[in-house]
Amino acid sequence: MPSSNQLSPIKFAYWVPNVSGGLIISNIEQRTSWDIDYNRKLARIAEEAGFEYALSQIRFTAGYGAEYQHESISFSHALLESTSTLKVIAAVLPGPWHPAVLAKQIATIDHLSGGRVAVNIVSGWFRGEFTAIGEHWLEHDERYRRSEEFIRAIKGIWTADNFNFQGDFYRFHDYSLKPKPLQQPHPEIFQGGSSRAARDMASRVSDWYFTNGNTVEGIKAQVDDIRAKASANGHSVKIGVNAFVIARDTEAEAKAVLHEIIDKANPEAVKAFSHEVQQAGKASPEGEGNWAKSTLEDLVQYNDGFKTNLIGTPEQIAERIVALKHIGVDLVLTGFLHFQEEVAYFGKHVLPLVRQLENEQSVAA
Ligand SMILES: Cc1cc2nc3c(=O)[nH]c(=O)nc-3n(C[C@H](O)[C@H](O)[C@H](O)COP(=O)(O)O)c2cc1C
Repeated sequence: MPSSNQLSPIKFAYWVPNVSGGLIISNIEQRTSWDIDYNRKLARIAEEAGFEYALSQIRFTAGYGAEYQHESISFSHALLESTSTLKVIAAVLPGPWHPAVLAKQIATIDHLSGGRVAVNIVSGWFRGEFTAIGEHWLEHDERYRRSEEFIRAIKGIWTADNFNFQGDFYRFHDYSLKPKPLQQPHPEIFQGGSSRAARDMASRVSDWYFTNGNTVEGIKAQVDDIRAKASANGHSVKIGVNAFVIARDTEAEAKAVLHEIIDKANPEAVKAFSHEVQQAGKASPEGEGNWAKSTLEDLVQYNDGFKTNLIGTPEQIAERIVALKHIGVDLVLTGFLHFQEEVAYFGKHVLPLVRQLENEQSVAA
């Protein structure tokens, strides 16, 4: 009997390049731009190509090449205005954001966009950024304790009237948000991170768990852990995995692009990034999580996207995507070198093969 994950088509999201320098720390030539005109066109190409979601990024300061960064909520709103079916997930950092502000912003954007906005609650890895804006830097698991309260608070505000909440970080007294969001029960809540605290939080409160790129075995271990914990909590959570996609007509061409990206990496910036990400999974009590085992080559892509190995011909990539689905992955979050051209290529050459393999396998099941 196939699981429910096996019955529904795997979904696709792309990273919104709303920060400069693209998704890699490399001096390779990129035709990707972080400006709004480029991104509006990209969003339209992506929805036409069959992408269901776009994910914006939140960064308050430069670092490792991302010299300019557009703010995630306002940028996501602009993309929603430029599209008609795409769902846009806005990244949010508890700390700089208060849950009441976020709940109110998203409720309004949900009405403005006909129910197409979602949020990605990220817990923070960039200590220098928090220091730069005068935000208190909590230690690893405390950041997740705050994020979980944040998620419980926004869910409460979105779904209940006279909402009361007594947390260590947030308090609400008889608060009624009006209007409530359009989407019922509420806009989808994604989260990013892979440590034990991240997995525990996902298994209690989030709709979606986003993790960095990884091997099939590395992803399966996380999926199994989260699904077991979620089922013990009576909660259901879907899984999204990051991948930097290099799809070319031949495997040799795709691998040559990967090698060029790595050969032209900016070693100083990669090393500085490697130092900064020690504040993530490595700083958790168990020493696991995002970037805890990344090599310098892995870190040339911000979220370990080479590790997922969606690098090759459309056939190879489609087979690997379906293998991810088999271990319980619900969504692939994609990054590209030249976004507009490559999202279109993915929609034309890779996605139909994925759907074909899914159909063949559901007939055989
Ligand atoms: C798909 C994805 C998207 C993320 N987006 C952002 C972001 O926009 N801004 C940010 O500060 N952190 C972002 N993060 C970082 C996470 O919130 C988290 O700090 C990091 O993954 C370390 O988590 P861990 O220690 O639980 O492994 C993202 C993580 C993932 C997996």
